[in-house]
Amino acid sequence: MANLEQIVSLCKRRGFIYPGSEIYGGLSGIYDYGPLGVELRHNIKQYFWNKFIVEREDIYGMSASILMPERVWEASGHTELFTDPLIECDLCHERMRADQAETITEHEAIHSKKKEKVSWSEPKVFNLLVETKLGASESTATKVYLRGEITQGVHVNFKNVIDSMHPKLPFGIGQIGKAFRNEITPRDFLFRLREFEQMELQYYIKPEEGEGKKQFEFWKDFSLKWYYGLGFKKENLRLRQHGSDERAHYAKDAWDIEYNTAFSGWKEAWGIHHRGDWDLKRHSQYSGVDLSYFDEETKTRFVPWDIECSGGIDRAVLFVLLENFDEDEVGGERRTVLRLPAHLAPVKVAVFPLLKNKPELVKKAREVYEEIKRAIPNTEFDDNGNIGKRYRRQDEIGTPFCVTVDFETLENDTVTLRERDSAKQERVSTKVLAKFITTK
Ligand code: GAP
Repeated sequence: MANLEQIVSLCKRRGFIYPGSEIYGGLSGIYDYGPLGVELRHNIKQYFWNKFIVEREDIYGMSASILMPERVWEASGHTELFTDPLIECDLCHERMRADQAETITEHEAIHSKKKEKVSWSEPKVFNLLVETKLGASESTATKVYLRGEITQGVHVNFKNVIDSMHPKLPFGIGQIGKAFRNEITPRDFLFRLREFEQMELQYYIKPEEGEGKKQFEFWKDFSLKWYYGLGFKKENLRLRQHGSDERAHYAKDAWDIEYNTAFSGWKEAWGIHHRGDWDLKRHSQYSGVDLSYFDEETKTRFVPWDIECSGGIDRAVLFVLLENFDEDEVGGERRTVLRLPAHLAPVKVAVFPLLKNKPELVKKAREVYEEIKRAIPNTEFDDNGNIGKRYRRQDEIGTPFCVTVDFETLENDTVTLRERDSAKQERVSTKVLAKFITTK
C-alpha cells in the first residue's frame, strides 16, 4: 500500500493523471486523465457496466444530461439541503468546512508557526451545487445546474423507461457520468474533487418493509463483492452504517464501503442508500407528472422505493492505485510494481525486440505484436531503452505480461514470457502465446 505522494508522482510521471489546466496554474479540485489513466478509468467503468447492467436481466442502462433545470434540484431537495457548514479564517480569509477537524487543525498549525492565533467566523450554510446560465441574452437566460449527483437524471426519466421498456418490479436503471460539486475544500488528490464521475444503480422495488430490507442487504453484499473485484485485500475494505446525523436528506438508511487508506485511515468509497419514495414523490409533486407504478398482478398503483448503489469512479481509481502499488526487489534491483488485476491494467501485454538495432528481431517482434494485438487489443510495442528499463516501466504501469523476442525466437518460434508479480520467465511458443496469456 502506498502513500498519497507516491501515487501523485507515479500518476504524473507515467501518464495516468495530471493537474487540470496545469500550464495555466491549475484549478483546485480538477484533474485530467492521461493516456494510461483514461484506460484504467475505462476498465473500472466497463467492469461496473458489465456486472451491474449487461449481465443483469432486471437492469437497464441510460445516460442523462449534465445540465438540468433549477426545478429538478428544488424537487430533489438539493437547492435547500445539499449544503456544508462553512467557516472563515479571520487572518487570511481562507474558507473551510466546519465539520472537517483535520483540515481546521492543519490550517491553525500554519498560523501558529507564525505565532498567530486563528479565530473562526460563525458557520454559514454553503450550497454545493454548481450553477450556470443558458440562453443568449441576460434577460432571457435561465439558471441551470450542473448535476450534483447523477441520480436525478434517472428519476426524471422513470416514466420514460416504464413507458418504453415496460419493466416489472423490481427493476433497476444504471448510469455512469460526471457530477459537479462546489466543494469548499477539495483535497487529497482524486479523493474530493469538484468535477468527478459516478457509477450508480437506482433499483426500484415494492414499497414494503420486508422487501426493502431484503433488497438493501442484497445490494450491500453485491456492491462489496464488486469492489473486492477491483483487487482489494479483505482487510482493507469494510461496510459502515451512517449515524442518523450523517445521512443525506433523502436517505432512510445508508451504508458506506470504506477503504483503509495509508494517508488518512478509513475513507468512503461507495454508498448504498435506501432512498424510499423520496425522489419519485417529490418529482411527481414538483413536475405535476404522475410517477407511480401500476402493478398488473395485484392491480394496485403505488410509488416504488429506491435502493441506490453509488460509487465515485475517481475515488475507485485512487484507491485501486493505493492498494496495488508495491515496491520490491527483483534480481537485486529495487522496482516499483502496480499489482493491478489484469482486467484493470491499461496495457495487458508489452512486446519487445531484445535489441532495437537488429532489423530481423524488430521485424519478428512486430509480427508477434500484431498477432497478440488481434486477440488482446491493449497490447503495446516497446523498443525504448534496454530490456531492464522496459521491464521497470511496464511493472510500474501494471502490465501483467511482457513478451521478449530474441535470437532463439528466430530459430524455434518461442518467446520469453515474463509475469509481472513474480517476475518469473518462461519460454512459450508464439503459436499458443495469445491463448496462453488469456487463460493465465
Ligand atoms: N447519488 C448518491 C450520491 O451522490 P454521495 O455519497 O454524495 O451519494 C456517492 O456520493 C459517491 O460519489 C461517494 O461514495 C464517492 O465515491 C463519490 N463522491 C462524492 N463526492 C465526491 C467528490 N467531491 N469527489 C470525488 N468523489 C466523490
